[in-house]
Amino acid sequence: MSKAGRLVVLVSGSGTNLQALLDASADPSYGARVVAVGADREGIEGLVRATKAGVPTFVEKLGDYPTRADWDRAIAAKIASYEPDLVVSAGFMKILGAPTLDAFPVLNTHPALLPSFPGAHGVRDALAHGVKVTGCTVMLADEGIDTGPIVAQEAVPVLPDDDEETLHERIKTVERRLLVEIVGRMAREGWTASGRHVRIGNQSEGEST
Ligand code: GRF
Repeated sequence: MSKAGRLVVLVSGSGTNLQALLDASADPSYGARVVAVGADREGIEGLVRATKAGVPTFVEKLGDYPTRADWDRAIAAKIASYEPDLVVSAGFMKILGAPTLDAFPVLNTHPALLPSFPGAHGVRDALAHGVKVTGCTVMLADEGIDTGPIVAQEAVPVLPDDDEETLHERIKTVERRLLVEIVGRMAREGWTASGRHVRIGNQSEGEST
């Protein structure tokens, strides 16, 4: 059974999910702590949040490498240098390659109820489709776009006057709480993955999280 005590968190934007993890891990009883924060771009709020919390940061930009494979190897090596038990992709807008995915479990969060509305515009696509309920998904990353085994999901109603911004903000409130809960439980209780099924601690198959 895997644990999840040392976290490397990857961000590309505002980093409010990262902040939720930083806040939770200030309490040692949470069971996990952020040992480094990585990004694919500079000048983002997520990196500022890490620095304010005293957490080391690194930036690996795709454009700085001749090929995607070179970037994949570079970011995997940087992540490895912090010896994480779990990598958390929290609003990181790049698909990680085999060098990272083969070396570490990667947890990802997505603002829609997968397998509906994968990809970079999950909130916009759900609104455009006219769904009445959407939500968020915490999953293990694989080589696809939001296709990995699902760890937890929570529903969020779509309100008649929602636009992409209001709906995404309401989803993110739920998403932050769910991510913090799941990472903490994975760290404290351990977890196993078998095919598409992820089990935390002694949770029975099919029991809701
Ligand atoms: C989250 O909704 C995440 O699921 C999506 O982008 C958002 C990131 O928000 N991919 P933040 O950077 O954690 O504030």
